Amino acid sequence: MVKSREEAPSPRRPFVWLILALAALAILGSVLAVKDRSVLLRWSVFLSTDIGRGRAVFQKKGCIHCHAVNGMGGSIGPDLGEGKPSSVAFLVTAMWNHAPNMWAYMRAERFSYPTLDYEQTAQLVAYLYMASRLDARGDAQRGRLLFAKYRCTQCHSAARTPGPHDTTLTDPQAVRTPAAWAQAMWDSAPAMKKTMQEAGVSWPVLESSDLSDLYAYIRSRLHGSSLPPPMLGNPEKGWQLFQSYGCVDCHGLQGNGPGSPGTWRSLTFLQLGQAMWSNAPAMLAAMKERGMASPRLTGNQMDDVAAFVYTLRYFDPVGSAIVGRSVFEWRGCNRCHGKDAQGSSVAPALRGQGRNYNSISLATALWSHGPKMFERSQQLGIGWPRLQPSDVGDLLAFLNTPREQRRSP
Ligand code: HEC
Ligand code: HEC
Ligand code: HEC
Ligand code: HEC
Repeated sequence: MVKSREEAPSPRRPFVWLILALAALAILGSVLAVKDRSVLLRWSVFLSTDIGRGRAVFQKKGCIHCHAVNGMGGSIGPDLGEGKPSSVAFLVTAMWNHAPNMWAYMRAERFSYPTLDYEQTAQLVAYLYMASRLDARGDAQRGRLLFAKYRCTQCHSAARTPGPHDTTLTDPQAVRTPAAWAQAMWDSAPAMKKTMQEAGVSWPVLESSDLSDLYAYIRSRLHGSSLPPPMLGNPEKGWQLFQSYGCVDCHGLQGNGPGSPGTWRSLTFLQLGQAMWSNAPAMLAAMKERGMASPRLTGNQMDDVAAFVYTLRYFDPVGSAIVGRSVFEWRGCNRCHGKDAQGSSVAPALRGQGRNYNSISLATALWSHGPKMFERSQQLGIGWPRLQPSDVGDLLAFLNTPREQRRSP
């Protein structure tokens, strides 16, 4: 059939070619659009970014002028690091809720309003999210007592002279960062298990802030009171390691019970290390049973694995469009954008515009349109709508559901 057509070229052929060319263009266009969307999606659901870039945005946009992160930076606004309940939804709503006060401070400080595009917002949120996973400063005094209580002293001298088993803790690299310490403990677990068995010491199961305090104790001995360097983890590398070291074989990503990575993401670096340490005998036994060598982490690999684990929380919160419609009303967004987010004379339509919001694009939109929204809310005598972290998922579901009356014929 194809052949006969070739033999008898129809006069409509150029037209056919034109159609084909247009179709090819359309396909290319949609492939590019899909690719673009998958990039957006990736940014929103998977925090695969170099933390250094987020820190650079934080500095370049002047956030650091007013905010410290873990003690380093300005003090006009609150410290955004350790100890903040961190989730993407929390950061998005915190920035929104505090925006009017921040703007007031910016005016007072003669600070120009920092604009943020999508990628910068993603990097910034990733950075703040990671920063909040840092460990609180441990209690070195308590650490010293624990060091004796857990009989670490039986093998490790707290002084710089060899202990009975000639193993001192004198390597400053091992306490460079919390992750490095967690890694050193994990890597030595097989050797320690053996020596402990021989010495008749039972495996010390660490609790609460134990590892953090032990770290503070050893670190203060080797580094004095200097602050550890900022974290270095790379989530993408961490994911590779999680697979190549076989962690994923025993710890599937979908599970919810103990031993599921989903439950580790709220841990700090040291808490993660502590969980690994306390379960080391069980883990080493399980590995042996499967004929696996126990993985030794080198370089910054513990940072990478931890960084990966933290990204597991980075999925956009799920929500209900029905609840979202109520949230939109409760928070007063409807007063300007309309009940159905269809737009009004004072504010643009948000639904049915072909946009697909995720946490990051919503944060970017709120941040960049915020000053105008604020101005309108003052003109109309409406208070600034305050959002709760739990609103975000529902609002996204609502905004991303097409409006019914816009069904195309
Ligand atoms: C001119 C000073 C100033 C600048 C610049 C500034 N902020 Fe703020 N920020 C503040 C103040 C003041 C508050 C507390 C406002 C309040 O209490 O309502 C705040 C609050 C916040 C909060 C809420 C914190 C919490 O604990 O709830 C976040 C998040 C935040 N800022 C992020 C940022 C980011 C990101 C940038 C850079 C794009 C930035 N800020 C730039 C002054 C500033
Ligand atoms: C029964 C002996 C024994 C006990 C008890 C013991 N360890 Fe160890 N520890 C070892 C051995 C053996 C090594 C491996 C040394 C090596 O590889 O050179 C080690 C290595 C380490 C390392 C890695 C050192 C480095 O520089 O990489 C850390 C950290 C450590 N132990 C901390 C502790 C802590 C904290 C305790 C108490 C909770 C403890 N150990 C209890 C025997 C012990
Ligand atoms: C051969 C199987 C196996 C492999 C491989 C393995 N683990 Fe485990 N892991 C276990 C077992 C068994 C436990 C004990 C907890 C339990 O009952 O599930 C455990 C516990 C843990 C815990 C503490 C769990 C909790 O909820 O308190 C952490 C954290 C952990 N593993 C991290 C890792 C990491 C990171 C890797 C890769 C470097 C890894 N594991 C590789 C079997 C394994
Ligand atoms: C006082 C009126 C007012 C209120 C209340 C208000 N907005 Fe807005 N909103 C505006 C205006 C005006 C704009 C357009 C600003 C501009 O053009 O820069 C806007 C823009 C937006 C945008 C950006 C649209 C785009 O182009 O992507 C989003 C998203 C948004 N609003 C969401 C909300 C949400 C969610 C709430 C409730 C928490 C809310 N708004 C409450 C007036 C308001």
